[in-house]
Amino acid sequence: FVVRAGSYTDELVKTAKTVASPGRGILAIDESNATCGKRLSSIGLDNTETNRQAYRQLLLTTPGLGEYISGAILFEETLYQSTTDGKKFVDCLREANIVPGIKVDKGLVPLPGSNNESWCQGLDGLASRSAEYYKQGARFAKWRTVVSIPCGPSALAVKEAAWGLARYAAISQDNGLVPIVEPEILLDGDHPIERTLEGLSTRREASPETIAKYTLTMLKRRVPPAVPGIMFLSGGQSEMQATLNLNAMNQSPNPWHVSFSYARALQNSLGRYSAEGENEDAKKGMFVKGYTY
Ligand code: 13P
Repeated sequence: FVVRAGSYTDELVKTAKTVASPGRGILAIDESNATCGKRLSSIGLDNTETNRQAYRQLLLTTPGLGEYISGAILFEETLYQSTTDGKKFVDCLREANIVPGIKVDKGLVPLPGSNNESWCQGLDGLASRSAEYYKQGARFAKWRTVVSIPCGPSALAVKEAAWGLARYAAISQDNGLVPIVEPEILLDGDHPIERTLEGLSTRREASPETIAKYTLTMLKRRVPPAVPGIMFLSGGQSEMQATLNLNAMNQSPNPWHVSFSYARALQNSLGRYSAEGENEDAKKGMFVKGYTY
């Protein structure tokens, strides 16, 4: 999270502090309709708006959710949806002291002139979309761009990622939304953790303690202590692995609140339990595979 001075300063600071409140993290349920459809099909359901609404209602109305979840990132469709009793999802969240968030990027496309890398679209019209999302109750935003180590990262891809994130962050703040600046460094690749640190993930296993040490070294070099919170995505790791890594990062005090912004690591088990006895693909972890935004 970053907060910059402007007309919404006080509210932005308050929002960031709430999302970065002790003992809580972010529930990311901003999967695109196509990705949500994969989850539904793994438990034998059609990808209809009614089923997507029902799935999100199940998650967002979980009793006691606000004890552990400080913010929920929604896909645009969900921001406008209500429970079957007619209560807006954003109101359910607010009552549980959970800040509603919104995914605002428009996804990745190939970056010409790079080493098979991508860049993230969505800046056109972002100011007016953000103003509208604020009116609907969103108070923070997410923009996910990707950096791939085995493919690069080329100087061009890093520059594009940084430029897009910075421009998006400023536009969000101007419209009252606290920006989550999300440069996802993909886990794919055979390179060691030293290369990850130097480049800006990896199939080569490292212990949670080593991952924490390298990650915190990089973050302390680059991220000012004034940033309220750093939330880690699960990135295709198991619930256990993602949690152990996060736990290792919190074994000594950090300048920022360090917590989670998980999609798969908070939803995978749910999919497997729902599929129990019904769908072989799901039992094998269908929710884990093929997950794109
Ligand atoms: P995963 O935890 O599935 O990587 O997704 C996280 C996310 O979308 C964070 O914003």
